[in-house]
Amino acid sequence: MSNFSMAKVVVVTGANSGIGLALCERLLSDDAQIRLCLACRNPKRAEAARAALLDSHPTADVTLLKVDVGCVASVLQAAEELKRRYQRVDYLYLNAGIMPNPRVSIKAFFTGLFSSKAISMFATGEGLLTQEDRVTEDGLQEVFETNVFGHFILIRELGPLLCNAGSPSQVIWTSSSNARRSAFSLTDYQHSQGTEPYSSSKYATDLLSLALNEHFNQQGLYSSVICPGLVMTNLTYGIFPSFFWTLIMPIMLLIRIFTNTFTLTPYNGAEALVWLFRQKPESLNPLAKYHSLTSGLGNSYVKPVKMDLDYDTSKRFYEKLLALEKQVRERVL
Ligand SMILES: NC(=O)c1ccc[n+]([C@@H]2O[C@H](COP(=O)([O-])OP(=O)(O)OC[C@H]3O[C@@H](n4cnc5c(N)ncnc54)[C@H](OP(=O)(O)O)[C@@H]3O)[C@@H](O)[C@H]2O)c1
Repeated sequence: MSNFSMAKVVVVTGANSGIGLALCERLLSDDAQIRLCLACRNPKRAEAARAALLDSHPTADVTLLKVDVGCVASVLQAAEELKRRYQRVDYLYLNAGIMPNPRVSIKAFFTGLFSSKAISMFATGEGLLTQEDRVTEDGLQEVFETNVFGHFILIRELGPLLCNAGSPSQVIWTSSSNARRSAFSLTDYQHSQGTEPYSSSKYATDLLSLALNEHFNQQGLYSSVICPGLVMTNLTYGIFPSFFWTLIMPIMLLIRIFTNTFTLTPYNGAEALVWLFRQKPESLNPLAKYHSLTSGLGNSYVKPVKMDLDYDTSKRFYEKLLALEKQVRERVL
């Protein structure tokens, strides 16, 4: 077989900045042969990312795919294009995500900072962060559609490219330790009623990943979720301006000694994503979230942490997603 056909096909959503871009850079350093596809909504930003990647890896195979994961029609189009380009997809990194209009309770921040809960508050964002969501043109909650549903449709469309019993493929989600059961409800799984759509969407991601494993492992598709830790990216600059983060950097470097969850750089945050690239998917635990961690001395490593999930909720959520998919397809097509 030629080198070309052996080359792994890797698709990354939200590849043009932050953790996604750092992941691409690291994957190319790991395996220069991969056929890397940057799946992004903004062609200019995507082209700039491609140029930066080619700058450090001039012979790499890096292509662009336009997709807005917050729009079902765009996802369907992108999936068609992928099916034209590739016979299979070995790694599908579902990394694009939004946290729109985040609000931080300054009071909760400072009381939390000096309380016994400081560490867990920083690790999960519990009680600290709320967001304002909106409804998209598809009639769905934007955070849910972007972080979860658009990606779900992409997987459904790419089924034949991902399901190869002989040689398994991996679907890898950038979830978060901010995923909390208390923010999610099966009766309002899009989180149209509450104030924590982000946390809800990440819990939904974890539930979905479990269901995907239940349904598709036998067909050679394996799904896993990671938490990148707290990373300085456009997403975190939406919470506080970058100068504020710079201001509190000494505190964060101190806290890092105790929690190791302050990975801080996109490079460190991508650790678990890169680690999964090297694993045999059959060896992974569907109930574990793989955390990128960075020690006080700045060394990155990966640790699996058992998720707060149950199979029944996961199954029922999956059924709801299938029903919604049917509804939306009728509306969009
Ligand atoms: N930073 C953290 O501390 C942290 C912690 C836990 C989890 N995460 C997760 O990590 C992932 C990556 O985020 P990041 O921190 O690296 O932030 P980022 O730099 O803002 O990256 C997010 C990426 O997603 C893309 N994206 C957003 N909406 C999209 C849409 N509708 N269609 C296609 N692409 C879209 C963005 O594209 P544009 O450039 O066009 O906006 C960007 O490339 C997210 O899923 C986030 O929830 C981050």
